[in-house]
Amino acid sequence: MISQRVRTITPSATLSLNARLQEMRAQGKEIINLSVGEPDFETPKFIRDVAHEAMESGWTRYTATSGHPEAREAVCRHVQATRNVEVKPEQVVLSSGVKHSLSQALLSLVNPGDEVMIGAPYWVSYPELIRLADGIPVVVETRIEDGFRLTREALEKQLTPRTMGIILNEPGNPTGIVSSTAEILEIVEFARDNDLWIISDEIYEAMVHEGKLNSPFSIDPQRVSYISGLSKSFAMTGWRLGWSVSEPDRANAIGRLQSHNAANPCSISQACVAAALGGMDQPELQEMYAAFRERKNLVVEKLDQMNGVQFVSPKGAFYVFVDISNFLGEGKLVADSNQFCLGLLEEKGVAAVPGDAFGTPGCLRLSYARPAEELSDALDRLSQFLEKVASSS
Ligand SMILES: Cc1ncc(COP(=O)(O)O)c(C=O)c1O
Repeated sequence: MISQRVRTITPSATLSLNARLQEMRAQGKEIINLSVGEPDFETPKFIRDVAHEAMESGWTRYTATSGHPEAREAVCRHVQATRNVEVKPEQVVLSSGVKHSLSQALLSLVNPGDEVMIGAPYWVSYPELIRLADGIPVVVETRIEDGFRLTREALEKQLTPRTMGIILNEPGNPTGIVSSTAEILEIVEFARDNDLWIISDEIYEAMVHEGKLNSPFSIDPQRVSYISGLSKSFAMTGWRLGWSVSEPDRANAIGRLQSHNAANPCSISQACVAAALGGMDQPELQEMYAAFRERKNLVVEKLDQMNGVQFVSPKGAFYVFVDISNFLGEGKLVADSNQFCLGLLEEKGVAAVPGDAFGTPGCLRLSYARPAEELSDALDRLSQFLEKVASSS
């Protein structure tokens, strides 16, 4: 009875781990959860205040399906200020979160059998979102030695006549990668030379700890759809508000699709877009960004002291991706990173996500969206578990 399209969607690779985590918590065990994908901060008060006001002043009805003009104009101002590109409100489609914008953009761009390139390690939902649009995800491996950078050389090797587009994601989940201007230019030029579209997922845009974000949208706004939202940068995961900014024809297609399959995103959340984007220098947000920078330093310092692990110091977002393959294999205490993560949870009460979920086995993702004391404790426990695994083989 279930459609072929949905039947082929694989459930999240982290399901069994999450089930065990819940079970252990129900038994009263304390778990340090480094598998979280959202800021541990409250939505800033100056944004919550705007939401209250919006409820009282009539922002309670359907809006235009692509979004309220005021909110779309706020996104235009943001694009001009941060990406130095002048865009019109018609190029902006507001949605119910970045996942939603990604899905709408892919449904609008992909024809059956089109190949879409993604660099591995990739964010978990890209392959499934591409398949749901009847496309074929083409996974392009990156190397830890290259800082997980997607190179033109690697892309060229997997280019075929059916390749139509690329999804980029910086700052990256799970690696925290932020590329230089020249590195981004190299990918945009590859796309130009082969007439490919680019979807650029920049959801962690305000969380850059080192250097600066280089958005491909600044280089080629005709080819690139810039996608972002309020979830991470403003600690607003539950508010479900995202946007895509594209050249007018593409934006129009996404808007037409949305008018039938979603209508407008939550009107109250839309009312907060201008306040959020205009308030990035507010103390509450600046404190959150500073906390993530400090935590990143703490995590990197601790990991540096662990023998046998490899990682790339993250430049943005709030994750670090750690290669533990030296500790895995037949005949060892744990054969793969799934077993490693289950053991770490059972024995040390620390939850992390196995690399398989991101298309890169032999690794794990740690989130540093937890307070510093918890992080410090969790990393000590990880270090002890690594020693145990090493000494048992
Ligand atoms: C890279 C990336 N894109 C998109 C999303 C989804 O964002 P939203 O909650 O706005 O749908 C996430 C959330 O984890 C993410 O890490």
